[in-house]
Amino acid sequence: MGQGDWQKAGQKGGIPGGLGSGRKWWKDAVIYQIYPRSFQDSNGDGIGDLQGIIRRLDYLEALGVDAVWLSPVCKSPQDDNGYDISDYQDIDPMFGSLEDMEQLIAKAGEHGIRIIMDLVLNHTSDEHPWFLEAKSGKDNPYHDYYVWRDGEPGAPPNDMRACFGGSAWEWVPQLGQYYFHQFSVRQPDLNWDNPKVRQEIYEMIGWWMEKGVGGFRLDVIDQIAKAPDEKITGNGPMLHTYIRELSRETFQKGDLVTVGEAWGASPELAKLYSCPDGSEFSMVFQFEHIELDKQEGKQKWDLAPLPFLKLKEVLNRWQVSLYGCGWNSLFWDNHDLPRIVSRWGDDGKYRAESAKMLATLLHGMQGTPYIYQGEELGMTNVKYPIEDYRDIETRNMYRERVQAGYREEEVMASIYAKGRDNARTPMQWDGSENAGFTNGEPWIRVNPNYRDINAANQVGVPGSVFEYYRKLVALRKGYPVLTDGRFKLLLEEDEKVFAYLREDEGHRLLVLCNFFGEPAKCNLIASWEKETLLIGNYEDAGAGPGPEEAGILRPYEARMYLAKKG
Ligand code: GLC
Ligand code: CA
Repeated sequence: MGQGDWQKAGQKGGIPGGLGSGRKWWKDAVIYQIYPRSFQDSNGDGIGDLQGIIRRLDYLEALGVDAVWLSPVCKSPQDDNGYDISDYQDIDPMFGSLEDMEQLIAKAGEHGIRIIMDLVLNHTSDEHPWFLEAKSGKDNPYHDYYVWRDGEPGAPPNDMRACFGGSAWEWVPQLGQYYFHQFSVRQPDLNWDNPKVRQEIYEMIGWWMEKGVGGFRLDVIDQIAKAPDEKITGNGPMLHTYIRELSRETFQKGDLVTVGEAWGASPELAKLYSCPDGSEFSMVFQFEHIELDKQEGKQKWDLAPLPFLKLKEVLNRWQVSLYGCGWNSLFWDNHDLPRIVSRWGDDGKYRAESAKMLATLLHGMQGTPYIYQGEELGMTNVKYPIEDYRDIETRNMYRERVQAGYREEEVMASIYAKGRDNARTPMQWDGSENAGFTNGEPWIRVNPNYRDINAANQVGVPGSVFEYYRKLVALRKGYPVLTDGRFKLLLEEDEKVFAYLREDEGHRLLVLCNFFGEPAKCNLIASWEKETLLIGNYEDAGAGPGPEEAGILRPYEARMYLAKKG
């Protein structure tokens, strides 16, 4: 299936806002992220795979999502779980074959779901043929595909550090040179200043577009235009020049959704990235709201409580700044982040309530919402002994910090709170052994709470977190004010309640969220009680409050009201 076949393929009578209507389909879309190794194993090797995903397409259609972003499935030695690609045009045998991928694209299309691939363009694996060539000699035509500096052993060009620990420079004795890597030693950075590199990348992307993918997520895209001599990694001087060329040469030739991962994005930069003229991407993932619970200027491992008022301030700023001149992505979770319910909700007594509250807050805002696998079930963080963690970032950090004299308990507390494996434990499908994820030995331990928290307990079960998400997704399709309405923060200084309005010509929509485990007074309720309650996470909300409950939001209570104007 090629580009533009959506109207034919979609079993839902075509995708709203598809080609020709002028409106971008991804503005009304909800996107689901799959971390393939942890989603569904189909052959008992303990690792999720493409056939496993195909098996679960009914589940995704039931949730109502429009597209699925797959974390990398290309060929890879898996040093960083696939974010180290050794062949961009083949599938890793662990996940299946190219035929499986083509089948997934086609079958997903029958369910009205587009497949979004993860493009890792900042670096390759050290086993990529380009890198093998590059390090075979300074005059090899591929040498300049990577970033090299002459030097002496033991004296790297500067003191830059890699994200996963250690120096960002790795010595190659036979060349008398260092190569640059922002991530692990096995993820050498590509040299985007070399036009041949860019050209090869564009051709590869065109090849995937021909296969009918619905879009791309661009891994650490703000780091491609690095300038290591100036110690610049993110937002390099040539960044937007390269991105515009990339977009022109590839994405603009199709009707794709594109989302760049940009840790260093400000709203001003995001306006460039997501400019409505389509010159760069559809949108970016920004992380300002995600980085709030760490100590100022420190690493994510250096924990700090969530500053609630700051969260409001940040989300408000993004909503307001991008209105009409950019587009937000809306997310709490991904494969690099801890589970939101354990982070800013309560994964104990109020797990379901707080999971739904956080979902309401996010899905009520303007932008394209993303759901990370298991978030729609209220899946939680884990606490494992260190041997059970698989993530390279977590393991390296543990070693470095223990060596540096941190107390073991302190290091483990950081891992429990922020480790990436929190998001990577197997999807909890049912209460059978290994949560229905695999018949074999899972590559990473299943969260022990799977008998309680799983899809089988929730799909079709009124009041479940899953059904709540399903309803939120459906609301977005039914009420244009959710897509287009202007955002206005209310109760800015309220220390417990996050409240905002959305407004278009015909409607006003109010979202109220109590972020805490105690009741919270909210004087907005009185004037909205008579309006339509679109969704709420307490069953009797809107039924008319008892006298002592009037004007009160219960622990983690969320409500979304709709009022007709005029
Ligand atoms: C991105 C990915 C992360 C990966 C890193 C290096 O941040 O989301 O999982 O480790 O890039 O590719
Ligand atoms: Ca498998």
